[in-house]
Amino acid sequence: MSALTIALPKGRLLNPALDVLDALGYEIAEIRGGTRKLILDDKKNDARFLLLKPFDVVTFVEYGAADVGIVGQDVLMEQESDVFEPLALPFGFCRIVLATRRERAQTNWRLATSLRIASKYPRITRKFFVERGWSAEIIPLHGSVEIAPALGLADLLVDIVDTGRTLKENGLVEIETLCHSQAALIVNRASHALKFGELKELMDRIGKEIREMGK
Ligand code: PRP
Repeated sequence: MSALTIALPKGRLLNPALDVLDALGYEIAEIRGGTRKLILDDKKNDARFLLLKPFDVVTFVEYGAADVGIVGQDVLMEQESDVFEPLALPFGFCRIVLATRRERAQTNWRLATSLRIASKYPRITRKFFVERGWSAEIIPLHGSVEIAPALGLADLLVDIVDTGRTLKENGLVEIETLCHSQAALIVNRASHALKFGELKELMDRIGKEIREMGK
């Protein structure tokens, strides 16, 4: 049994997460090489890596199938899971925004009725609209949310923006930023107690490494 099981997110956060682990001396070459294995053991460092979809990183950590994970705060906000979030990591910076088609940029949405909003973040979206007292139907999607307005599936969308390129290339404009996000380290609550020594050492080493990276 490995000392620590570390859940890693496939996608945009994987490479920067691997950079940190690489700097700490973990064996991540096979992951970087594009392996299709989903569980990888690093015997030298007594660690096991799981390669997961970002939303599943939180689930695996919450249920203790992984001790620790790296995931975006956007995903954490959406999942509202019961995990520790002891450390923000200096990568994966993005914003969650409300956007629409360029031609509709001047629309007064507050006056609109029967609004439909497409999003990978239905919970964050609902909270935003409820707080403003706007009624809206939320259309949950898993990706390519940006095409929903052009196809008449939704009037607006809520999604993450990093460079802004996806919005621009799909004829969309931002209306408002809902929140900011970056990567975070998350820890299972039971593991935090049972493997406190190993986890504290890992967190201390990551903390030191990210301070070095920031210099
Ligand atoms: C995210 C998001 C946007 C895009 C924004 O998708 O859903 O589509 O990135 O990035 P940009 O502002 O730099 O263009 P991601 O690439 O994570 O893939 P996904 O749609 O499969 O979740």
